Amino acid sequence: MVNLRPARPDDSAALAPLCSELGYPASAEQLAPRLAALLSQPATHVLLVAENASGLCGWIHGYIRPLLESDPALEIGGLVVAERVRGQGIGALLLTATETWARQQGVAQITVRSQEHRTAAHRFYQRQGYQVAKRQLCLRKALAA
Ligand SMILES: CC(C)(COP(=O)(O)OP(=O)(O)OC[C@H]1O[C@@H](n2cnc3c(N)ncnc32)[C@H](O)[C@@H]1OP(=O)(O)O)[C@@H](O)C(=O)NCCC(=O)NCCS
Repeated sequence: MVNLRPARPDDSAALAPLCSELGYPASAEQLAPRLAALLSQPATHVLLVAENASGLCGWIHGYIRPLLESDPALEIGGLVVAERVRGQGIGALLLTATETWARQQGVAQITVRSQEHRTAAHRFYQRQGYQVAKRQLCLRKALAA
């Protein structure tokens, strides 16, 4: 039995191991201010968690990205389901709920950027109706303080 609900400020400890499973290790202390920042912007950010009898077992973050060159679209910032409960439809539930939220905000398009190596996730998204739109490079520069 899985329940979806909006994330709460006190979820950071339970979210931390799931961030590690996504490949972005972070402590509860690191997550707490990030979580608070997202929760303070409910008009443009949605952060849902999946909960079962053992606790939190997944999360999704979506945000509306305003651009000059195109209409606002929803971006999936992150999606992960605990490895022990993958393949039970929890990822699909989280994604569908986020799509519903986006529609309610008047957003007509949803995008997810996914690393090349996440081939299982690509299959998941394609089953959910997502199509490859383009391939990109991600370039990064550290800014000196
Ligand atoms: C992608 C992910 C969120 C899907 O969640 P999920 O709850 O397993 O998804 P569902 O049960 O709704 O759908 C299952 C489908 O997901 C895919 N899938 C990806 N990884 C899987 C795994 N380890 N176990 C089972 N299914 C997996 C399969 O295509 C599967 O379809 P199938 O069972 O018909 O083969 C989850 O596998 C995950 O957290 N992966 C690691 C993190 C990640 O890659 N996130 C996406 C970043 S863009």
